[in-house]
Amino acid sequence: MSPRVAVVTGGGSGIGLAIGRRLAADGNAVAFFDRDGASAKAAAEQITADGGSAIGVQVDVTDRAGIHAGIDEVKTRLGAPQILVNSAGKTVAGPTLEVTPDLWELVHAINLTGTFDCCQAVIPHMIEAGWGRIVNISSSSTHGGVAQMAAYVSSKSAVNGLTKVLALEFAKYGITVNAIPPGFIDTPMMRDHESQGLISVEQQIERTPVGRAGTPEDIAAACSFLASDEAGYITGQLVGVNGGRNT
Ligand SMILES: NC(=O)c1ccc[n+]([C@@H]2O[C@H](COP(=O)([O-])OP(=O)(O)OC[C@H]3O[C@@H](n4cnc5c(N)ncnc54)[C@H](O)[C@@H]3O)[C@@H](O)[C@H]2O)c1
Repeated sequence: MSPRVAVVTGGGSGIGLAIGRRLAADGNAVAFFDRDGASAKAAAEQITADGGSAIGVQVDVTDRAGIHAGIDEVKTRLGAPQILVNSAGKTVAGPTLEVTPDLWELVHAINLTGTFDCCQAVIPHMIEAGWGRIVNISSSSTHGGVAQMAAYVSSKSAVNGLTKVLALEFAKYGITVNAIPPGFIDTPMMRDHESQGLISVEQQIERTPVGRAGTPEDIAAACSFLASDEAGYITGQLVGVNGGRNT
């Protein structure tokens, strides 16, 4: 695989952290973007300590100007980005009739508009290079819907749609755009749901044909392939990584 510069949003924790580590192990220089700047920097420091190339940048994906400033910093310190992984996300659950306008806006601002704004900031660099890879981390909840997750499933379903549009529009520049809708991955987000009583891990394992929770590394392995040269004929796809929960 040719080394590239990769940007991973939500890179300070869970799936984004594992993806950043995997892309670095693949030989890429990685910029970890997270609204929690300390976790982004810690992720990068571990990679540089191991001899890799990485930076951590505090970026809140709801801040469009902040995204552009972050990409400028990446260009200066690592080079122009050619891989973008959008993993920053917010999950909320609760009765639909109790979803406030502010909460609806916030979930869409992070999950959907944040993804869109990061794509808009990075795609010009990919066009200039004649090569690009975008992987959007959506959600397996979009396959069949989940009661009481209106804002989340709506925003993530829109990410799937956005993925297809961008794939069609930018294929001619050598850019592929795919989504991974993960299902039941053992991350701090999932453990937070467990502690709030929103899910039972044991019940979820029973529902999962492969008989275990997924790991962030399961998602990172699929992402690594989609970000590689070899995946150039795969675009506009939703590549489910969910232990067989959705087929
Ligand atoms: N864990 C699962 O089972 C699962 C299932 C389906 C989808 N997903 C999706 O995977 C992605 C990663 O989730 P995770 O489980 O690794 O969660 P996580 O909570 O471990 O990590 C999410 C990261 O995103 C960052 N973040 C949140 N809002 C941000 C913002 N506005 N700007 C920048 N960074 C922000 C957080 O600080 C955190 O570091 C999310 O988009 C989530 O919706 C996860």
